[in-house]
Amino acid sequence: MQTDMISYYGRRAREYEQVYAKEERQEDLAQARRIIGAAFDGQDVLEVACGTAYWTEAFAASARSVVACDINSEVLKIARGKDWGRNSIEFLEADAYALPGFDRQFSAAFSGFWWSHVPRSRLPSFLDRLHKNLLSGSKVVFIDNRFIEGSSTPILRTDELGDSFQRRTLADGSVHEILKNFPSESELLDAVSESASTADVLLTDYFWILSYQIK
Ligand SMILES: C[S@@+](CC[C@H](N)C(=O)[O-])C[C@H]1O[C@@H](n2cnc3c(N)ncnc32)[C@H](O)[C@@H]1O
Repeated sequence: MQTDMISYYGRRAREYEQVYAKEERQEDLAQARRIIGAAFDGQDVLEVACGTAYWTEAFAASARSVVACDINSEVLKIARGKDWGRNSIEFLEADAYALPGFDRQFSAAFSGFWWSHVPRSRLPSFLDRLHKNLLSGSKVVFIDNRFIEGSSTPILRTDELGDSFQRRTLADGSVHEILKNFPSESELLDAVSESASTADVLLTDYFWILSYQIK
């Protein structure tokens, strides 16, 4: 299943940012860009599953440094090709579940539209490993989709572990079954309750934004 997820995003790389053009989501996206753009002022940020760096562009200028990881070379190529000016930014090919040993700890972490793709059974170990790379007091922000009837791709099935799946078709006609979860506000807060000193979920019409501080 992970293999299909990886190849799906590899094939989708060039059409990926079309998802941010949906008319009805523009107000929420502008709000999210303001929040995420202001979240990491002066911080050393570790970003997981950065994709084409759509969100990295929102905070790179105000962060002190950014290390942005993704498993797909196709999306990283697009990310690296953007104009980063004088910002300190490094793109790294890395698996979110097996991050490399960094020679330092970060003071912040961010991930956009990745949480929803993490199987429920893998979420605790994914978060644990991410948090191990962060200093005490680090700020962490995740943003992802809420399920909106009529706007979200319908859920095809939910398995015995509670993971839900969507069927998605790419421009090349290929069809993929993709794990996509829609956690509730309390599930989000529960998932980080042991690691966080404070945590908060902001719900917009289309997105949730989880922000917390590492103990
Ligand atoms: C929904 S996209 C989000 C991209 C970007 N963060 C954004 O919000 O625009 C999910 C990303 O996860 C990446 N990905 C899939 N499996 C991964 C893994 N095991 N480790 C790291 N990245 C992975 C895909 O290549 C894709 O870029």
